[in-house]
Formats: sequence, structure tokens, C-alpha cells
Amino acid sequence: MATQLSQNSNITLTPLHPVIGAEIGGVDLSQELDSATVEAIRDAWHDNGILLFRGQDITGDEQLRFASHFGDVAERHTPKEGANVAQVGAAPDWKNLMMVTDKKDEDGNPVGGLGHGEMWFHSDKCYHERPHRTSFLYGIEIPADGGHTKFASLYGAYNKMRDEWKDRFDDARIMQGYDYRNVERLDLNINLDNIFHFSQPLIVTNPGSKRKALYVSRLNSMWIEGIDRDESEEVLAEMFDLTEHADNYYEHVWQPGDLMMWDNLACLHARTDWPQGQTRMLRRCTTLGVPLD
Ligand SMILES: [Fe+2]
Repeated sequence: MATQLSQNSNITLTPLHPVIGAEIGGVDLSQELDSATVEAIRDAWHDNGILLFRGQDITGDEQLRFASHFGDVAERHTPKEGANVAQVGAAPDWKNLMMVTDKKDEDGNPVGGLGHGEMWFHSDKCYHERPHRTSFLYGIEIPADGGHTKFASLYGAYNKMRDEWKDRFDDARIMQGYDYRNVERLDLNINLDNIFHFSQPLIVTNPGSKRKALYVSRLNSMWIEGIDRDESEEVLAEMFDLTEHADNYYEHVWQPGDLMMWDNLACLHARTDWPQGQTRMLRRCTTLGVPLD
């Protein structure tokens, strides 16, 4: 049921799922927002982890303007040598906006990045010293079947974790990595020099909500530092399952004009597959976060 987000406004908030997400109504993101509206959206974002704005008609510049209320807009990282540029995003003319698409131009060259197919749960740029805090994804062309985005609560995963682990791993660190050539779990014997990687806290206190989040994902998390590798694998397997439990994620079915924003310190996201021959195009930007401790 929709509730009014703040007094003296027509902005509404409707929960999307019992553990994560809300839809915001009554906001036109093509217009400059006043500070009270931005603050109301920020509070809702802290409370809900992801926000959906339906029926938006926005340019790239308007998307960037909205994003800039939530931090410094991030620029792309240069891929490691040997990366598959079709996956990473090879379009020459983007720096802080990226087309997430499997579409090709008339010469058969990709017009964006992160191409086609399923993508496992992950947190954007968790393998950098300053992970990207907020991601903004705008739906332009949506396949008729599939291509959904799942959003899993890292708070929900933390809350369901065994109590003994909450104590034991409170100060633990996790090696996060990403190999652009790989779409499954990383090879733990890979030479770290060849991939993006960074050691992060395993449990993060979200600076916005002050809630604790279990900062692991099946695509990026390699090992818990300081414990036996076999034990780390057992613990992580259970932690991955906590994040991906059917009760712990919302699955978003895209419509053109949807703008989703999410907090990478509150949730993971994943993509479902869609048929070959159907194209999908969304426009993404992110804001830069701070080093975690
Ligand atoms: Fe992502």
C-alpha cells in the first residue's frame, strides 16, 4: 500500500518486497528536484536499499544530474589486459554513462557492455578500494522474456547468519575479486595480479542505515582472510546461500522508463537470462563510495 513520503508533497512510497525495496511515485526525474525531495528520497533509499521510479523519460544528462545528489559520479575503470571488451563495455563514447546491452551496430560491433545472458549475484566494484556506492539503471529496451534483475538484501543475510559467526567474523576481511572474462565463481588459484581484487570487511555497517550487512557475493568473494581455505569455502557456501535464499530477494521485471537505484552496501544484484534474438538495453551510472573499514 502506498504511503505519503513527506508532508506537503505528492510523493508516495510503496514497498516492493517484505525485506527489500520500495517504489517511489510522484517524482519526475527529468526535472531538477528541490532539496526536500532529494532528502526524502535519500531517507527512503537508506530505509529500503533499492528504489524504483516508474514511467520516467530522462536523458543521460538528467540521469547523471539525479545521480550526483548521491555522491561523485564514477568514471569507468580501464579493464585489465586481455579482458573481453564486449563484456566490459567497449563503446568508445562513454566515460560515466554505460549502455548495458547486447545490442550491436550495423557492423556487428557492440554498442555497450556486459552483453547477454545470466549474471550471478554481485556488488558493483566491491573489488576496488572505493566500491561504487549507488548504481542507477534506466530501462530503454526490454526483452519480452527474462532479463530481470534480482536484488538480494545483505541485511537480511546478516540477520539470518549464525550468532556465533556474527561474533567470530565481526572484524574479518574478505578478498573480493573480479575477472571480466569469467561469469562464474573465480578460480581461487588465479594470480591476483591478473584480476581486480581488494580485501574488504566481511561485515559492513552501512553508513546510511547504520545496519550491518554481510558483504559477500558468489561472483566476487574469494576467501575469508586468516582462516583455512577449506573452512573458508564451507563458510562462504553457507553465506552465499543466505544472500540468495528465495525469501531474501526481490526480482524486478523491467519496463521501459524504469529507473532503479540501489545501495551496493545494502544489496546484491543479479541478472536472469533471456532468449537470443531479443535485445536488452539499459543505461547505467554509479557514484563513488569511500574506503570501508
Ligand atoms: Fe552490476
